[in-house]
Amino acid sequence: MAACLLLLLASTAGATFRFASYYADHMVLQKKPAGAVVWGYGEAGANVTVSLSRDCKVIMKKMAQVEEHSEAWKVVLDPMNHGGPYSMKAEQHSKGEPKNLTLQNIYFGDVWLCSGQSNMVMTVSQIINASKELSEAPLYPYVRLFTASLIQSKVELQDLAKIDLQWSIPTAENLGHGNFSYFSAVCWLFGRSLYETLQYPIGLVESAWGGTPIEAWSSGRVLQECGLPRDVRRFLRPKLVSGPETPSVLWNAMIHPLLNMSLMGVIWYQGENNAFLNTDLYNCTFPALIADWRRAFHSGSEGQTQPLFAFGFVQLSTFRRQHQDDSFARIRWHQTADFGYAPNKRLPNTFMAVAVDLCDEHSPYGSIHPRDKQNVVYRLHLGARAVAYGEKGLVFQGPYPVKVVVDEARGLINVMYEQEILLLLMHDHIFEVCCSPQLSPQEPCQWVPAPMVSASSHTVTLSSPGCRDTVTRLRYAWAEWPCEYRRCPLYNRHLLPAPPFVMDTLR
Ligand SMILES: *[C@@H]1O[C@H](CO)[C@@H](O)[C@H](O)[C@H]1NC(C)=O
Ligand SMILES: *[C@@H]1O[C@H](CO)[C@@H](O)[C@H](O)[C@H]1NC(C)=O
Ligand SMILES: *[C@@H]1O[C@H](CO)[C@@H](O)[C@H](O)[C@H]1NC(C)=O
Ligand SMILES: *[C@@H]1O[C@H](CO)[C@@H](O)[C@H](O)[C@H]1NC(C)=O
Ligand SMILES: *[C@@H]1O[C@H](CO)[C@@H](O)[C@H](O)[C@H]1NC(C)=O
Ligand SMILES: *[C@@H]1O[C@H](CO)[C@@H](O)[C@H](O)[C@H]1NC(C)=O
Repeated sequence: MAACLLLLLASTAGATFRFASYYADHMVLQKKPAGAVVWGYGEAGANVTVSLSRDCKVIMKKMAQVEEHSEAWKVVLDPMNHGGPYSMKAEQHSKGEPKNLTLQNIYFGDVWLCSGQSNMVMTVSQIINASKELSEAPLYPYVRLFTASLIQSKVELQDLAKIDLQWSIPTAENLGHGNFSYFSAVCWLFGRSLYETLQYPIGLVESAWGGTPIEAWSSGRVLQECGLPRDVRRFLRPKLVSGPETPSVLWNAMIHPLLNMSLMGVIWYQGENNAFLNTDLYNCTFPALIADWRRAFHSGSEGQTQPLFAFGFVQLSTFRRQHQDDSFARIRWHQTADFGYAPNKRLPNTFMAVAVDLCDEHSPYGSIHPRDKQNVVYRLHLGARAVAYGEKGLVFQGPYPVKVVVDEARGLINVMYEQEILLLLMHDHIFEVCCSPQLSPQEPCQWVPAPMVSASSHTVTLSSPGCRDTVTRLRYAWAEWPCEYRRCPLYNRHLLPAPPFVMDTLR
């Protein structure tokens, strides 16, 4: 009885006055040059005042009115230097009782969103040296954690329907809460590295779900751009069940609600699922998703999130030791929009961690879930420092060939690198050539191994025996499992691996 009455009262008096779900004690708000967006719900037509205080002194006040239709209010704070703690109070003035809410222990710093599938979801308790990493949690009280719940929706949600971990100070318990729950090891180690570099607060928002394809994280705009059906019934060919594979359901429930938040950037570890679904569309869907998320976060935050914010990603690691199917190699290539490296023309302001050499055959979570996330994040954080934070002269990419010279007379191929290469070992089939009378995309290649025969500081020399015709194409590490743990042939002196590539040798 009492509960019914309360509901009735609430509905006649308009929406309950509250902050949106992801504003809470201990949170990190985006620092300058962006202004942090703060929003919530209230009674239509009411006035809302948001005030920010430090040491009980009000330093900023912003006003908004609750919109009639959405019953939402929103303010944009003035850009703030990093630091804290602050408290933030919101007051509602309407015809009824005045109401107020206060959040404590708020900091300003950089907010990063971490998304993707199971390799992003894997928690700190599942990785190598887990107990050491967990025990170090108390050293990072200014790296703050938040995890959205696994929710799917057929329509775009305005706010998160559920939260697994509300804004928290890291502890061994919330970093190692369970297997594939929270908190993401890649997200945590990334935030921790940024904190060590920047020495100011970092807010980490995890919104990721294992076993999900990129289509589920894509808005209708992305699907349309890539010629994919927006209609769920057409997408689910034989199955009738809806699941996190359904197009747009995770965009709707786990990304769209966050658009109003000001943030610094996104990191993404996804693609394994697309080795079995729309693989050769990933060179459309991934660049389109990045562009779409950028537009959406920029406009959702009233222009506070940069229109070309930094987007980092992990290139797929390994799964099976097999040679029949090159779908992993194709996804790795498509992750770079078929350039082989990032950033590039189609993927501006992005950065990539190569993980092809971080295999883990005996992972208790299956070989698709390698436990070395420290090296993944070491490589990823270098990209963030160079691309997102503009650190000049920082080497964050492995060696990539600038020129290939075929010496037909001697049956040799010289692959030239701009960076100085560190040769770990010689390999007789990790480079392969395609021999054919002419370069023709119609004709499938007969790939033959081109053994490495020698190497100098900037050049690897291969032999192409058995190539009676012209060498038209060359590829490197084009296999699901091309080398052993941290034992690919080519690195640079910072131990960043050479990424896989395929290229035409006739130009
Ligand atoms: C909201 O503020 C405006 C002026 O800023 C005032 O005219 C109006 O009466 C206020 N509304 C309520 C419900 O307090
Ligand atoms: C804030 O609201 C509480 C009740 O929730 C009330 O006791 C208090 O006086 C209010 N404070 C201000 C400054 O309005
Ligand atoms: C963003 O804030 C507005 C209030 O200005 C609200 O109506 C809307 O639902 C929010 N949008 C999203 C996607 O969260
Ligand atoms: C997580 O998985 C590991 C390896 O399978 C297992 O030993 C451990 O008990 C699991 N932990 C929890 C909390 O389920
Ligand atoms: C994506 O890759 C496929 C297969 O290699 C190719 O046919 C297609 O043209 C590429 N699409 C884009 C947009 O680059
Ligand atoms: C695990 O800890 C050992 C001992 O501190 C260290 O040598 C090793 O590099 C760590 N492994 C990873 C992947 O970080």
